[in-house]
Amino acid sequence: MKYSYIAKAALRQIASGFKIPYMVMFETTLMCNMFCEYCMFGVEGKYNDLTTRGQRERIFKRLDEFAELGVFAFSFSGGEPLLNPNTSDYIAYAKDKGFWTSMPTNGLLIRKFADGVAKLDMLEVSIDCLDEKQFAKRRGIDGLPVIIKNLEYVLTKRKPFTTQINAAVNMENLNDLPGLAEFCKARNLVLHPEAVHNVMRGGEMLPDSELHGEQIDIVERALRDLRSRYPKNVRFYSHYYDFYRKGGFGPQFPCRHPSKLISMKPDGSIHLPCAFKTLFQSQAPVREIFAHPAVKKIIAQEATLWDFCKGCKIGCPYEVSAFTNSPKLAVESALNFLRM
Ligand SMILES: C[S@@+](CC[C@H](N)C(=O)[O-])C[C@H]1O[C@@H](n2cnc3c(N)ncnc32)[C@H](O)[C@@H]1O
Ligand code: SF4
Ligand code: SF4
Repeated sequence: MKYSYIAKAALRQIASGFKIPYMVMFETTLMCNMFCEYCMFGVEGKYNDLTTRGQRERIFKRLDEFAELGVFAFSFSGGEPLLNPNTSDYIAYAKDKGFWTSMPTNGLLIRKFADGVAKLDMLEVSIDCLDEKQFAKRRGIDGLPVIIKNLEYVLTKRKPFTTQINAAVNMENLNDLPGLAEFCKARNLVLHPEAVHNVMRGGEMLPDSELHGEQIDIVERALRDLRSRYPKNVRFYSHYYDFYRKGGFGPQFPCRHPSKLISMKPDGSIHLPCAFKTLFQSQAPVREIFAHPAVKKIIAQEATLWDFCKGCKIGCPYEVSAFTNSPKLAVESALNFLRM
């Protein structure tokens, strides 16, 4: 992140009346080398995209366009983002532009790409328990020892509190969280627990894996308790559990993914309304896309959403929507981010 770039982007946002997107989620690949039981990508071979080949120049050009537009933050995601051999180069380019950069990863390849990973403003490694057997059951491969070894290596290249452990939480691993919080405290890491929720892709869903009824209260209570015991190390949005209980996005809490969070696919195409459902896609320059009547119509619809949104509680769109929907949540998000 470059402060000069962030200041320039802020001026562009102000000039537009905060009408332009402020973050990009780039799915560098839809492939994955893990098979997590709660994730769509875990269905083996389902997302075998080859679209990562030969796209380098197009992605660099997109990064130039996003910088010119005034986007603040750039997230590399997937699938497993490091399965795209170009990801390290994209991180370096995005950092050079001045974006605030982040990347969730399963950690299997972070040692191989340690120099690229070291450049991220926030590295997020997904570890949802410290018991090897349970990890293998939840994440589909017996990979915990190698991931922890990789993490220890990468931490030698990173500043305190710039690495986050993402833990997908349900009733099965709730009791593992205090151990994970201790693990984070000992290494100056941030623990970000997120309740498991159903994720839809193009209208398809895995069998229901959500929390229901009392389970939501139990998880929320346990997380609040954990945060009060580890205030420097545990971060999550308290309001998320209220949102979860009420069934996720809807007219009372619209999803701002279409207008605020740009979804870019491995081939550089931009998809709307979101990364999980495509009603419009294009390889045109980003300014042209956001001036297109079909895109304006989609954005106008975000206040009421679509039938396929019913029950959606996905974390990344929730975070950008929290900023936009409520000044109080925006302040809470900022404090959360700063772990205050
Ligand atoms: C989709 S993954 C992509 C990046 C990378 N493969 C990883 O596992 O970190 C992004 C994050 O979403 C989390 N995740 C996946 N499915 C989830 C679900 N159904 N509920 C909550 N979190 C989930 C993962 O644990 C990970 O932290
Ligand atoms: S959570 Fe990440 S590592 Fe697990 S299957 Fe999904 S994309 Fe792969
Ligand atoms: S609520 Fe948002 S992220 Fe979820 S399906 Fe609808 S547009 Fe996509």
